[in-house]
Amino acid sequence: MYGSVSFKSPDWPSRRWGWTGVTAIATMLPRQPTKCLGATQTRSAGSTIGVRLPYPYRERLDLDFDIAVVGLGYVGLPLALEAAFSGLTIAGLDVNQSLVGALSQGTSNIVEIPDADIDRALQSGFTPTLDATVLSGAAAVIIAVPTPLTDHTPDLSFVEAATASVGDHLQPGQLVVLESTTYPGTTEDIVKPLLEEHSGLKAGVDFFLAFSPERIDPGNPTWNFRNTPKLVAGIDQASTDRAAALYGRICDNVVIVSGTREAEMAKLLENTYRHVNIALVNELAILCNDLRIDIWEVIDAASTKPFGYQAFYPGPGVGGHCIPVDPNYLSYLVRRLGYQFRFVELAQEINDRMPRYVVDLVAEVLNDRKMSINGSRILLVGLAYKPDVADLRESPALEVASLLAERGAVLSYVDPYIESRGSETPDMERIDDAVEAALKCDLAVILTPHSAFDIPAIVAAAPAVLDTRGTAERGSVHTL
Ligand SMILES: NC(=O)c1ccc[n+]([C@@H]2O[C@H](COP(=O)([O-])OP(=O)(O)OC[C@H]3O[C@@H](n4cnc5c(N)ncnc54)[C@H](O)[C@@H]3O)[C@@H](O)[C@H]2O)c1
Repeated sequence: MYGSVSFKSPDWPSRRWGWTGVTAIATMLPRQPTKCLGATQTRSAGSTIGVRLPYPYRERLDLDFDIAVVGLGYVGLPLALEAAFSGLTIAGLDVNQSLVGALSQGTSNIVEIPDADIDRALQSGFTPTLDATVLSGAAAVIIAVPTPLTDHTPDLSFVEAATASVGDHLQPGQLVVLESTTYPGTTEDIVKPLLEEHSGLKAGVDFFLAFSPERIDPGNPTWNFRNTPKLVAGIDQASTDRAAALYGRICDNVVIVSGTREAEMAKLLENTYRHVNIALVNELAILCNDLRIDIWEVIDAASTKPFGYQAFYPGPGVGGHCIPVDPNYLSYLVRRLGYQFRFVELAQEINDRMPRYVVDLVAEVLNDRKMSINGSRILLVGLAYKPDVADLRESPALEVASLLAERGAVLSYVDPYIESRGSETPDMERIDDAVEAALKCDLAVILTPHSAFDIPAIVAAAPAVLDTRGTAERGSVHTL
């Protein structure tokens, strides 16, 4: 058995699994009171459920951890910390040795998470580890591993490997929750059979299984893990109840969805919605440029409508782990049905075109100055995929850099969050002082306006500026 017994108090279930503010959205949910292992609850659609606390693990007071989180990345780590701060004992399992080593020393690998938070979590019951045997000593296991694309196709190999490992250690009575973003059917058609095969146990009989999509928005100062409503769907009522009880401890609002497929699809809808709307304004930006209309003013004007409109903004493309990736999970599923998800494919095409469009604009701006891309000193302001994060994954700035390098630009960049840009990016000098860098360049291209940048000072220092984010004062710079 791993570590020490953490469930000391005989009344722990009522302390640990207390929950409030749970909403059921599905009209299919029973309006009759439902019984589940000692918990009686009544629900009606859209209402808060009054729950007498379930005691799902009363029989397992020997457990070491309340939760084991598998994967300590952008999703798993904040979840593990929030759970630790809520008084739960957390095992954080990862296969990355240096990450686990750093976390164990109180060092954060995520810019938005200060070392002090890791320290506090370590003192509050968070144990980072490489040892998969912790899985058998946890009341619940949450899987938060990557779901990337490989050759433009969903790659579930990380989910499968993590699930197999969970299955190898699965114990009767445990709850397993998948948080990774994926296509509908993954929880029940891939995770469930794998867990059963590796454990010899039966889902819904011996263990509980649920899906709960992560909605974390790195760098968002308003919406965090705790205050963002959390969707939860189990493969059966008992699994839903347990997952809702668990998330009720660490989230202000738990929203129950009637099936795992609906919850999986809800996450894809959220990200596809952003993807499609960003593509809409990106295409509009190109049209507006040809029509000599200021797209930024158009968006500001439309945003004054208090209903029926939500503002999205153009930019050099879409990046990060979610927006460029997740809609592909949906279109992959649709292609298997024998047709295309045309909205997604079109949005992909438009958003993918934006880095090339930015490079065309760079050529235009330089041309006005009787210069060419070839040989010009071009400063890239911000490389991360969005402001105030250190995440380079799928960042359109990298594509812009590659295209400019191919045309012979002499590149440099400023980004306080990106010290090492990886081997696949073109040669670029990293400069610390943005204003000094702007003084030395022929053109500054604002790609990611981190709040640490003094944009007016950069604009004043650079001989010419192309602002792809509408962040500088209009009139002083060239824009999309
Ligand atoms: N990053 C975001 O903003 C975000 C937001 C919402 C949802 N998601 C989704 O959450 C999931 C996780 O994304 P992320 O950004 O946290 O990924 P990440 O790459 O930041 O972290 C994943 C972690 O999982 C670890 N890992 C991989 N395989 C493992 C295994 N078999 N056992 C243990 N650990 C393993 C990796 O070493 C890594 O530390 C993805 O499906 C993603 O789409 C991400």
